[in-house]
Amino acid sequence: MNAEQPLLRAINISKRYEGPVGGQPVAVLTDVSLQLSHGESVAIVGPSGSGKSTLLNILGTLDEPTTGEVWCDDKRIDNLGPKQSAAFRRDRLGFIFQMHHLMPQCTAIENVLIPTLAKEGRGRAMYQRAEELLKSVGLGDRLHHMPGQLSGGECQRVAVVRALINEPAVILADEPTGSLDANAAGDVWSILSNLSRDRGVATIAVTHARHLAERMDRVLELHTGSLTVQGAAS
Ligand SMILES: Nc1ncnc2c1ncn2[C@@H]1O[C@H](COP(=O)(O)OP(=O)(O)O)[C@@H](O)[C@H]1O
Ligand SMILES: [Mg+2]
Repeated sequence: MNAEQPLLRAINISKRYEGPVGGQPVAVLTDVSLQLSHGESVAIVGPSGSGKSTLLNILGTLDEPTTGEVWCDDKRIDNLGPKQSAAFRRDRLGFIFQMHHLMPQCTAIENVLIPTLAKEGRGRAMYQRAEELLKSVGLGDRLHHMPGQLSGGECQRVAVVRALINEPAVILADEPTGSLDANAAGDVWSILSNLSRDRGVATIAVTHARHLAERMDRVLELHTGSLTVQGAAS
């Protein structure tokens, strides 16, 4: 790994969805390029329907661009097959979505450990890491609560910890505080940005809240499928 080289590069990404039979195709992204350095945090803002989720999904190998390339370190990742992309996501990425998507029948710490099940032979160390991470987000006394016994903000803190458990290089967060009230949103955003910074994890997070976006190193704006620099923060 070369610290000088960007961690993640999207090069001239375009995405077009074929419309229904006889309908018009929908051009969602047009010639989008971006670079993310190791440990850097970037916010993406933009109106609903501007392609934010589509871009995040392409960066996260959950969707393929129509044209363009995505690279992570020296590996091209936009054209991996299903097995390779699953392994790439497991080893390098952490995802957080607007809804926490915790398993309702599992406790907080069991939910955090789910992404580790695909890794071998690290059971006890992983349990300790999960416990330590949950303590660090103020949930040390909630380890064995079920999601139904936690507040929305607490569930989303569990989701942040779950995204970090496998020590990803990049966290991709799609409106991670979009379903929370202002106080809980501020708390979860702080936890996400501080934990990522402390652990050197690069982060790309979509949000509608301008004051949250501006806490990141850079803010980019998506508008009608094109990405522009919105303004430098800090
Ligand atoms: N699978 C799909 N098929 C066709 N159109 C889609 C699909 N997914 C998203 N779109 C369209 O792409 C546009 C961008 O969607 P999205 O990336 O979800 O925007 P955002 O996250 O910024 O709200 C929308 O107009 C949406 O209708
Ligand atoms: Mg979206």
